[in-house]
Amino acid sequence: MTFEEARGAFPVLERYAYLNAGSIGPLPRATYDAIAAAERDELEHGRGTWRYVTRMLEARDRLRASLASLVGVEPELLSLTTSTSEGCRIVLAGLGLTAEDEVVTTDAEHFGLTGALHASGARVRVAKVRDLPADQALDAILVEVGPRTKLVGLSHVLWLTGHIVPLEELRQAVAAPLLVDGAQSVGAIPVDAAAFDFYTVSGQKWLCGPAPTGALYVKDPERLAVALPSYFSQTSYEPDGAFEPQSGALRFDPAWIPVGFLDGLQAAIDGAPDWRYDRAREVTDLCRRRLVEAGYDVVTEPGHGTLVSWRWPDETKEAAQALADAGVLIRDLPGTGLLRASCGYWTSEEDVERLVTGLSAL
Ligand SMILES: Cc1ncc(COP(=O)(O)O)c(C=O)c1O
Repeated sequence: MTFEEARGAFPVLERYAYLNAGSIGPLPRATYDAIAAAERDELEHGRGTWRYVTRMLEARDRLRASLASLVGVEPELLSLTTSTSEGCRIVLAGLGLTAEDEVVTTDAEHFGLTGALHASGARVRVAKVRDLPADQALDAILVEVGPRTKLVGLSHVLWLTGHIVPLEELRQAVAAPLLVDGAQSVGAIPVDAAAFDFYTVSGQKWLCGPAPTGALYVKDPERLAVALPSYFSQTSYEPDGAFEPQSGALRFDPAWIPVGFLDGLQAAIDGAPDWRYDRAREVTDLCRRRLVEAGYDVVTEPGHGTLVSWRWPDETKEAAQALADAGVLIRDLPGTGLLRASCGYWTSEEDVERLVTGLSAL
Protein backbone atom coordinates (compact mmCIF):
# COMPACT_ATOMS: atom_id res chain seq x y z
CA MET A 1 0.00 0.00 0.00
CA THR A 2 1.44 3.38 -0.98
CA PHE A 3 1.25 6.47 1.21
CA GLU A 4 -1.26 8.03 -1.23
CA GLU A 5 -3.46 4.92 -1.08
CA ALA A 6 -3.35 4.84 2.72
CA ARG A 7 -4.21 8.53 2.89
CA GLY A 8 -6.95 8.14 0.29
CA ALA A 9 -8.82 5.84 2.70
CA PHE A 10 -9.76 8.90 4.80
CA PRO A 11 -12.09 11.35 2.99
CA VAL A 12 -11.70 13.92 5.79
CA LEU A 13 -8.04 14.42 4.82
CA GLU A 14 -9.17 16.09 1.59
CA ARG A 15 -10.38 19.01 3.70
CA TYR A 16 -8.44 19.10 6.94
CA ALA A 17 -4.95 18.76 8.30
CA TYR A 18 -6.25 16.16 10.75
CA LEU A 19 -3.87 16.21 13.71
CA ASN A 20 -6.20 15.03 16.45
CA ALA A 21 -6.16 11.22 16.52
CA GLY A 22 -5.13 11.43 20.18
CA SER A 23 -8.73 12.55 20.80
CA ILE A 24 -10.43 10.64 18.01
CA GLY A 25 -8.95 9.39 14.77
CA PRO A 26 -10.03 10.15 11.19
CA LEU A 27 -12.75 7.79 9.98
CA PRO A 28 -11.82 5.49 7.06
CA ARG A 29 -14.31 5.18 4.23
CA ALA A 30 -14.20 1.38 4.75
CA THR A 31 -15.34 1.78 8.37
CA TYR A 32 -18.22 3.99 7.34
CA ASP A 33 -19.20 1.47 4.64
CA ALA A 34 -19.05 -1.44 7.11
CA ILE A 35 -21.30 0.40 9.58
CA ALA A 36 -23.76 1.34 6.83
CA ALA A 37 -23.86 -2.24 5.48
CA ALA A 38 -24.51 -3.71 8.94
CA GLU A 39 -27.27 -1.18 9.63
CA ARG A 40 -28.89 -1.90 6.27
CA ASP A 41 -28.75 -5.62 6.98
CA GLU A 42 -30.54 -5.06 10.31
CA LEU A 43 -33.14 -2.89 8.63
CA GLU A 44 -33.89 -5.36 5.86
CA HIS A 45 -33.31 -8.73 7.55
CA GLY A 46 -34.11 -8.00 11.19
CA ARG A 47 -32.14 -8.16 14.39
CA GLY A 48 -33.82 -10.93 16.28
CA THR A 49 -32.91 -13.86 14.06
CA TRP A 50 -30.53 -16.68 14.83
CA ARG A 51 -28.64 -15.71 11.67
CA TYR A 52 -28.12 -12.22 13.11
CA VAL A 53 -26.89 -13.46 16.49
CA THR A 54 -24.49 -15.89 14.81
CA ARG A 55 -23.14 -13.09 12.64
CA MET A 56 -22.71 -10.86 15.69
CA LEU A 57 -20.84 -13.54 17.66
CA GLU A 58 -18.58 -14.30 14.69
CA ALA A 59 -17.79 -10.61 14.32
CA ARG A 60 -16.86 -10.47 18.02
CA ASP A 61 -14.52 -13.45 17.64
CA ARG A 62 -12.88 -12.00 14.56
CA LEU A 63 -12.35 -8.58 16.14
CA ARG A 64 -11.05 -10.06 19.38
CA ALA A 65 -8.45 -12.04 17.43
CA SER A 66 -7.35 -8.98 15.42
CA LEU A 67 -7.02 -6.73 18.45
CA ALA A 68 -5.19 -9.44 20.39
CA SER A 69 -2.70 -9.92 17.57
CA LEU A 70 -2.18 -6.14 17.40
CA VAL A 71 -1.04 -6.02 21.04
CA GLY A 72 0.71 -9.43 21.07
CA VAL A 73 -1.62 -11.40 23.37
CA GLU A 74 -3.90 -14.48 23.22
CA PRO A 75 -7.48 -13.65 22.09
CA GLU A 76 -8.71 -15.61 25.10
CA LEU A 77 -7.16 -12.95 27.36
CA LEU A 78 -8.76 -9.96 25.65
CA SER A 79 -12.13 -8.51 26.61
CA LEU A 80 -14.05 -6.39 24.07
CA THR A 81 -14.97 -3.12 25.79
CA THR A 82 -16.30 0.21 24.60
CA SER A 83 -13.24 2.25 25.64
CA THR A 84 -10.10 2.61 27.72
CA SER A 85 -12.16 4.24 30.49
CA GLU A 86 -14.41 1.18 30.65
CA GLY A 87 -11.38 -1.12 30.78
CA CYS A 88 -10.05 0.86 33.75
CA ARG A 89 -13.42 0.64 35.51
CA ILE A 90 -13.55 -3.14 35.03
CA VAL A 91 -10.11 -3.59 36.58
CA LEU A 92 -10.61 -1.22 39.51
CA ALA A 93 -14.05 -2.61 40.35
CA GLY A 94 -12.74 -6.18 40.17
CA LEU A 95 -9.81 -5.55 42.50
CA GLY A 96 -12.19 -4.68 45.36
CA LEU A 97 -9.83 -2.18 46.99
CA THR A 98 -10.44 -0.51 50.36
CA ALA A 99 -9.33 2.70 52.05
CA GLU A 100 -6.40 0.75 53.53
CA ASP A 101 -5.00 0.16 50.04
CA GLU A 102 -2.95 2.46 47.88
CA VAL A 103 -2.78 2.86 44.12
CA VAL A 104 -0.06 4.81 42.35
CA THR A 105 -0.48 6.96 39.26
CA THR A 106 1.05 10.09 37.72
CA ASP A 107 0.00 13.72 37.36
CA ALA A 108 -0.14 13.33 33.56
CA GLU A 109 -3.08 10.92 33.29
CA HIS A 110 -6.48 11.22 31.69
CA PHE A 111 -9.59 11.19 33.87
CA GLY A 112 -10.60 7.96 32.13
CA LEU A 113 -8.00 6.31 34.35
CA THR A 114 -7.82 8.61 37.38
CA GLY A 115 -11.61 8.72 37.80
CA ALA A 116 -11.67 4.93 38.18
CA LEU A 117 -8.66 5.00 40.53
CA HIS A 118 -10.37 7.54 42.76
CA ALA A 119 -13.74 5.76 42.70
CA SER A 120 -12.05 2.52 43.84
CA GLY A 121 -11.89 3.93 47.39
CA ALA A 122 -8.15 3.30 47.68
CA ARG A 123 -5.75 6.11 48.52
CA VAL A 124 -4.36 7.50 45.27
CA ARG A 125 -0.70 8.50 45.31
CA VAL A 126 0.24 10.78 42.44
CA ALA A 127 3.79 10.84 41.10
CA LYS A 128 4.74 14.26 39.70
CA VAL A 129 6.18 13.51 36.29
CA ARG A 130 4.52 16.08 34.07
CA ASP A 131 7.16 18.76 34.36
CA LEU A 132 10.11 16.38 34.59
CA PRO A 133 12.45 15.29 31.82
CA ALA A 134 11.17 11.92 30.55
CA ASP A 135 14.14 9.97 31.92
CA GLN A 136 13.32 11.07 35.48
CA ALA A 137 9.75 9.73 35.42
CA LEU A 138 10.61 6.22 36.59
CA ASP A 139 12.29 7.41 39.81
CA ALA A 140 9.41 9.79 40.54
CA ILE A 141 6.92 6.91 40.19
CA LEU A 142 8.94 4.50 42.32
CA VAL A 143 9.06 7.01 45.19
CA GLU A 144 5.27 6.64 45.51
CA VAL A 145 5.28 2.82 45.56
CA GLY A 146 5.18 1.20 48.99
CA PRO A 147 4.00 -1.89 50.90
CA ARG A 148 0.33 -0.87 50.59
CA THR A 149 0.47 -0.41 46.82
CA LYS A 150 -2.12 -2.70 45.25
CA LEU A 151 -1.89 -1.33 41.73
CA VAL A 152 0.19 1.01 39.60
CA GLY A 153 -2.07 2.56 36.97
CA LEU A 154 -0.58 4.78 34.31
CA SER A 155 -0.34 5.43 30.58
CA HIS A 156 2.09 3.91 28.15
CA VAL A 157 2.20 7.28 26.34
CA LEU A 158 1.24 10.31 28.45
CA TRP A 159 -1.56 12.25 26.78
CA LEU A 160 -0.24 15.64 27.95
CA THR A 161 3.42 15.39 27.01
CA GLY A 162 3.53 12.46 24.56
CA HIS A 163 6.32 10.89 26.62
CA ILE A 164 6.66 7.11 26.77
CA VAL A 165 6.76 5.74 30.32
CA PRO A 166 9.54 3.11 30.75
CA LEU A 167 7.06 0.34 31.54
CA GLU A 168 9.48 -2.54 31.25
CA GLU A 169 11.78 -1.08 33.93
CA LEU A 170 8.77 -0.21 36.06
CA ARG A 171 7.46 -3.76 35.84
CA GLN A 172 10.78 -5.16 36.96
CA ALA A 173 11.02 -2.74 39.88
CA VAL A 174 7.47 -3.13 41.24
CA ALA A 175 5.72 -6.22 42.66
CA ALA A 176 2.20 -4.74 42.46
CA PRO A 177 0.19 -5.32 39.27
CA LEU A 178 0.39 -2.76 36.46
CA LEU A 179 -2.68 -1.35 34.72
CA VAL A 180 -1.49 0.29 31.52
CA ASP A 181 -3.69 2.87 29.82
CA GLY A 182 -3.02 2.21 26.15
CA ALA A 183 -5.22 4.99 24.75
CA GLN A 184 -2.25 6.85 23.22
CA SER A 185 -0.16 3.83 22.28
CA VAL A 186 -2.22 1.12 20.56
CA GLY A 187 -2.18 1.83 16.83
CA ALA A 188 0.39 4.61 17.27
CA ILE A 189 3.48 2.69 18.39
CA PRO A 190 4.26 -1.04 18.54
CA VAL A 191 2.76 -2.58 21.69
CA ASP A 192 3.51 -5.86 23.45
CA ALA A 193 0.90 -5.97 26.18
CA ALA A 194 1.68 -9.51 27.35
CA ALA A 195 4.31 -8.24 29.76
CA PHE A 196 1.74 -6.37 31.85
CA ASP A 197 -1.18 -7.34 34.08
CA PHE A 198 -3.83 -5.17 32.45
CA TYR A 199 -3.62 -3.16 29.24
CA THR A 200 -6.41 -1.06 27.71
CA VAL A 201 -7.16 -0.27 24.08
CA SER A 202 -9.16 2.63 22.61
CA GLY A 203 -10.56 1.69 19.20
CA GLN A 204 -11.63 5.16 18.15
CA LYS A 205 -8.28 6.92 18.45
CA TRP A 206 -5.17 5.63 16.63
CA LEU A 207 -7.03 2.58 15.29
CA CYS A 208 -9.55 4.92 13.60
CA GLY A 209 -12.53 2.74 14.54
CA PRO A 210 -16.08 3.79 15.45
CA ALA A 211 -16.59 5.68 18.72
CA PRO A 212 -16.73 4.22 21.28
CA THR A 213 -14.84 0.94 20.88
CA GLY A 214 -11.99 -0.70 22.77
CA ALA A 215 -10.53 -3.67 24.57
CA LEU A 216 -8.89 -4.80 27.80
CA TYR A 217 -6.10 -7.34 28.16
CA VAL A 218 -6.12 -9.29 31.43
CA LYS A 219 -3.09 -11.49 32.03
CA ASP A 220 -4.67 -13.64 34.72
CA PRO A 221 -8.48 -13.53 34.48
CA GLU A 222 -8.97 -15.97 37.36
CA ARG A 223 -7.43 -13.45 39.76
CA LEU A 224 -9.74 -10.53 38.92
CA ALA A 225 -13.34 -10.62 40.18
CA VAL A 226 -16.16 -10.08 37.67
CA ALA A 227 -17.57 -7.04 39.48
CA LEU A 228 -19.57 -5.72 36.52
CA PRO A 229 -21.12 -8.83 34.93
CA SER A 230 -23.02 -8.77 31.66
CA TYR A 231 -24.90 -11.55 29.87
CA PHE A 232 -21.63 -12.26 28.03
CA SER A 233 -19.84 -12.97 31.35
CA GLN A 234 -21.39 -16.38 32.03
CA THR A 235 -21.85 -19.84 30.60
CA SER A 236 -24.65 -20.71 33.06
CA TYR A 237 -26.31 -19.07 36.05
CA GLU A 238 -28.62 -19.73 39.02
CA PRO A 239 -31.86 -17.93 39.97
CA ASP A 240 -29.90 -15.88 42.55
CA GLY A 241 -27.45 -14.69 39.89
CA ALA A 242 -24.53 -16.96 40.87
CA PHE A 243 -22.79 -17.85 37.62
CA GLU A 244 -20.13 -19.91 35.91
CA PRO A 245 -17.82 -17.38 34.26
CA GLN A 246 -16.89 -17.49 30.61
CA SER A 247 -13.40 -18.69 29.91
CA GLY A 248 -10.51 -16.24 30.09
CA ALA A 249 -11.09 -12.52 29.76
CA LEU A 250 -14.35 -13.04 27.85
CA ARG A 251 -15.99 -12.98 31.29
CA PHE A 252 -15.26 -9.24 31.49
CA ASP A 253 -17.02 -8.38 28.19
CA PRO A 254 -19.20 -5.56 29.47
CA ALA A 255 -21.76 -5.03 26.76
CA TRP A 256 -23.48 -5.79 23.52
CA ILE A 257 -21.61 -4.02 20.73
CA PRO A 258 -23.50 -3.12 17.54
CA VAL A 259 -22.43 -5.31 14.60
CA GLY A 260 -21.64 -2.17 12.62
CA PHE A 261 -19.12 -1.13 15.26
CA LEU A 262 -17.54 -4.59 15.31
CA ASP A 263 -17.27 -4.65 11.51
CA GLY A 264 -16.26 -0.99 11.39
CA LEU A 265 -13.31 -1.39 13.76
CA GLN A 266 -12.36 -4.58 11.92
CA ALA A 267 -12.29 -2.69 8.62
CA ALA A 268 -10.17 0.07 10.14
CA ILE A 269 -7.64 -2.43 11.51
CA ASP A 270 -7.55 -4.41 8.24
CA GLY A 271 -6.99 -1.23 6.23
CA ALA A 272 -3.89 0.00 8.07
CA PRO A 273 -0.59 -0.42 6.22
CA ASP A 274 2.17 -2.55 7.73
CA TRP A 275 4.51 0.49 7.66
CA ARG A 276 2.18 2.41 9.97
CA TYR A 277 4.59 2.77 12.91
CA ASP A 278 7.65 3.80 10.89
CA ARG A 279 5.75 6.47 9.02
CA ALA A 280 4.07 7.80 12.19
CA ARG A 281 7.51 8.04 13.87
CA GLU A 282 9.01 9.87 10.90
CA VAL A 283 6.24 12.45 10.56
CA THR A 284 6.04 13.03 14.35
CA ASP A 285 9.77 13.82 14.34
CA LEU A 286 9.17 16.21 11.44
CA CYS A 287 6.29 17.91 13.23
CA ARG A 288 8.32 18.35 16.40
CA ARG A 289 11.31 19.70 14.48
CA ARG A 290 9.21 22.21 12.52
CA LEU A 291 7.55 23.52 15.70
CA VAL A 292 10.94 23.94 17.39
CA GLU A 293 12.32 25.71 14.29
CA ALA A 294 9.30 28.02 14.31
CA GLY A 295 10.23 29.05 17.86
CA TYR A 296 7.58 27.24 19.91
CA ASP A 297 8.32 25.91 23.40
CA VAL A 298 7.86 22.21 22.65
CA VAL A 299 7.57 20.06 25.80
CA THR A 300 7.70 16.68 24.02
CA GLU A 301 11.20 15.26 23.85
CA PRO A 302 12.31 13.63 20.58
CA GLY A 303 11.73 9.93 19.88
CA HIS A 304 8.73 9.25 22.13
CA GLY A 305 5.11 8.62 21.02
CA THR A 306 3.19 10.25 18.19
CA LEU A 307 1.91 13.27 20.15
CA VAL A 308 3.68 16.63 20.14
CA SER A 309 2.77 19.25 22.78
CA TRP A 310 3.94 22.83 23.09
CA ARG A 311 3.28 25.74 25.42
CA TRP A 312 0.92 28.40 24.17
CA PRO A 313 1.01 31.80 25.85
CA ASP A 314 -2.66 32.70 25.26
CA GLU A 315 -6.02 30.93 25.54
CA THR A 316 -5.44 27.41 24.19
CA LYS A 317 -9.11 26.76 23.46
CA GLU A 318 -9.37 29.87 21.31
CA ALA A 319 -6.19 28.96 19.47
CA ALA A 320 -7.45 25.44 18.71
CA GLN A 321 -10.78 26.82 17.54
CA ALA A 322 -9.15 29.43 15.27
CA LEU A 323 -6.92 26.72 13.79
CA ALA A 324 -9.95 24.48 13.19
CA ASP A 325 -11.58 27.36 11.30
CA ALA A 326 -8.43 27.41 9.16
CA GLY A 327 -8.76 23.66 8.53
CA VAL A 328 -6.15 22.42 11.03
CA LEU A 329 -7.49 20.10 13.74
CA ILE A 330 -5.47 19.85 16.96
CA ARG A 331 -6.29 19.51 20.68
CA ASP A 332 -6.08 22.10 23.43
CA LEU A 333 -5.22 20.40 26.71
CA PRO A 334 -7.47 22.08 29.29
CA GLY A 335 -5.83 23.67 32.32
CA THR A 336 -2.28 23.09 31.09
CA GLY A 337 -1.50 25.95 28.68
CA LEU A 338 -0.57 23.27 26.15
CA LEU A 339 -1.58 22.64 22.55
CA ARG A 340 -1.13 19.15 21.10
CA ALA A 341 -0.75 17.74 17.58
CA SER A 342 -1.29 14.02 16.89
CA CYS A 343 0.65 12.59 13.94
CA GLY A 344 -0.55 9.37 12.31
CA TYR A 345 0.75 7.30 9.40
CA TRP A 346 -1.69 9.27 7.24
CA THR A 347 -0.17 12.66 8.17
CA SER A 348 1.56 14.43 5.28
CA GLU A 349 4.39 16.98 5.25
CA GLU A 350 1.81 19.45 3.94
CA ASP A 351 -0.39 18.85 7.02
CA VAL A 352 2.58 19.77 9.22
CA GLU A 353 3.24 22.93 7.19
CA ARG A 354 -0.43 23.90 7.45
CA LEU A 355 -0.10 23.62 11.23
CA VAL A 356 3.01 25.81 11.37
CA THR A 357 1.53 28.39 9.01
CA GLY A 358 -1.79 28.36 10.85
CA LEU A 359 -0.09 28.94 14.20
CA SER A 360 1.96 31.82 12.89
CA ALA A 361 -1.23 33.49 11.63
CA LEU A 362 -2.88 33.45 15.08
C1 LIG B 1 -4.40 8.66 28.10
C2 LIG B 1 -5.88 8.56 27.88
N1 LIG B 1 -6.58 7.68 28.58
C3 LIG B 1 -7.90 7.53 28.40
C4 LIG B 1 -8.58 8.29 27.50
C5 LIG B 1 -10.05 8.04 27.34
O1 LIG B 1 -10.19 7.11 26.30
P1 LIG B 1 -11.58 6.39 26.04
O2 LIG B 1 -12.46 7.40 25.39
O3 LIG B 1 -11.23 5.25 25.12
O4 LIG B 1 -12.09 5.94 27.34
C6 LIG B 1 -7.91 9.24 26.75
C7 LIG B 1 -8.62 10.10 25.80
O5 LIG B 1 -8.14 11.10 25.34
C8 LIG B 1 -6.51 9.38 26.94
O6 LIG B 1 -5.80 10.26 26.24
